[in-house]
Amino acid sequence: MFQLLYSSKPLFNAGSRQDEEILRAALQHNIDQDITGFLLRDVSTFYQVLEGPEKSILGLFETIKRDSRHKDVQREGFWEIERRSFGHWAMGYRCLTSELVSCETLPESVGAKRGEAIRNSIIRIAKPGFSA
Ligand SMILES: Cc1cc2nc3c(=O)[nH]c(=O)nc-3n(C[C@H](O)[C@H](O)[C@H](O)COP(=O)(O)O)c2cc1C
Repeated sequence: MFQLLYSSKPLFNAGSRQDEEILRAALQHNIDQDITGFLLRDVSTFYQVLEGPEKSILGLFETIKRDSRHKDVQREGFWEIERRSFGHWAMGYRCLTSELVSCETLPESVGAKRGEAIRNSIIRIAKPGFSA
């Protein structure tokens, strides 16, 4: 089981129909592919964690990279995992609107640990009771 994290720049506003359409596709496809994960966004950034069998998530990532609804797709991390972090969601979603917490503020470190820091922030945000 593997986990992949990427960032990208959305080409449409938060809360628009495209967010819904992406989630609808994710809910339909991810269950079949044994993929779970989380999509986080604010005004200008997406972070998405995909987790599941290696072939499934790498295949989906190739599709997502070609999607014209975002640009500048950058892989931020790829890890072998024992347990899923987002096992409850075919694709969880949260849009950050608070000025206190935005995607910009998430990376707590740079370099090799950046991806892990972002992933850990997303795990924290995904927990019930998180408030920004
Ligand atoms: C930021 C972003 C995240 C996406 N996440 C997923 C996903 O988790 N699962 C998925 O099947 N498609 C996802 N998509 C959509 C795919 O790129 C692609 O449009 C979709 O799989 C095609 O589904 P369709 O043939 O039913 O329209 C995402 C797209 C974007 C822009």
